[in-house]
Amino acid sequence: MSTTEQRVAVVTGAARGIGAATAVRLAAEGRAVAVLDLDEAGCAATVEKITAAGGTALAVGCDVADPARVEAAVERVVAGLGAPTILVNNAGVLRDNLLFKMSESDWDTVMNVHLRGAFLMSRACQKHMVDAGFGRIVNLSSSSALGNRGQVNYAAAKAGLQGFTKTLAKELGKFGITANSVAPGFIVTDMTAATAERVGMGFEEFQAAAATQIPVQRVGVPDDIANAIAFFTGDAAGFVSGQVMYVAGGPLN
Ligand SMILES: NC(=O)c1ccc[n+]([C@@H]2O[C@H](COP(=O)([O-])OP(=O)(O)OC[C@H]3O[C@@H](n4cnc5c(N)ncnc54)[C@H](O)[C@@H]3O)[C@@H](O)[C@H]2O)c1
Repeated sequence: MSTTEQRVAVVTGAARGIGAATAVRLAAEGRAVAVLDLDEAGCAATVEKITAAGGTALAVGCDVADPARVEAAVERVVAGLGAPTILVNNAGVLRDNLLFKMSESDWDTVMNVHLRGAFLMSRACQKHMVDAGFGRIVNLSSSSALGNRGQVNYAAAKAGLQGFTKTLAKELGKFGITANSVAPGFIVTDMTAATAERVGMGFEEFQAAAATQIPVQRVGVPDDIANAIAFFTGDAAGFVSGQVMYVAGGPLN
């Protein structure tokens, strides 16, 4: 592609939270952005925010765990925006419980969205990146990858994504494609609001308690993560691959 051509980015789980902030940020950097989430209507707010600021965005409804829908979604992106060369695997869910109470279905749901979803999306997008001789893949891991009580499924998936990232970096590097992982700490989104509700705390109180444990003494916001993703997806990060960046307001151990 010529250097003046607009790069196309796909951000999964971009209807809200970290994904929405990332889609807006990548559009502000000049990318045409496919805003992908479970249902197309849910993507409207993110798309409107991008287009109101003069950017280019396309809403795409897709369950990232469903191979047929993933293939169709990527074809839709190609037809609507062009071949995607930036992919942010951000879609995620929680199904927290202690091991002895965790159902097979809660285990499978978390594995399917995070791991199978990242695999299917990466497989569908990589051929376009190989053709372009350029690609950027960013996978959302988590501080929970280091282990977190009540999250045996999520911790395993988020640690798995780190191995997935490093392997992509080794396989795809020769095609000009980098793969990196961003591992957020506590970020204020609907996901952490749901956790506060589950443990019976008000969200403000939950955030204040979390902030006392974080070296910079505040919780994170989606833009903190979007900033890191913008770095990894940029042209200037071509020699940075297979890395995991914890964005958590301090070191975790
Ligand atoms: N919020 C945090 O503190 C935090 C910390 C570490 C990691 N993360 C990770 O960051 C990512 C984004 O988290 P968030 O806090 O913005 O979450 P969120 O719950 O606010 O948003 C997640 C989005 O993913 C979408 N999604 C879920 N399943 C999907 C599927 N099968 N197909 C397509 N889209 C799907 C949801 O509809 C939602 O819009 C997740 O991978 C999460 O695990 C979040």
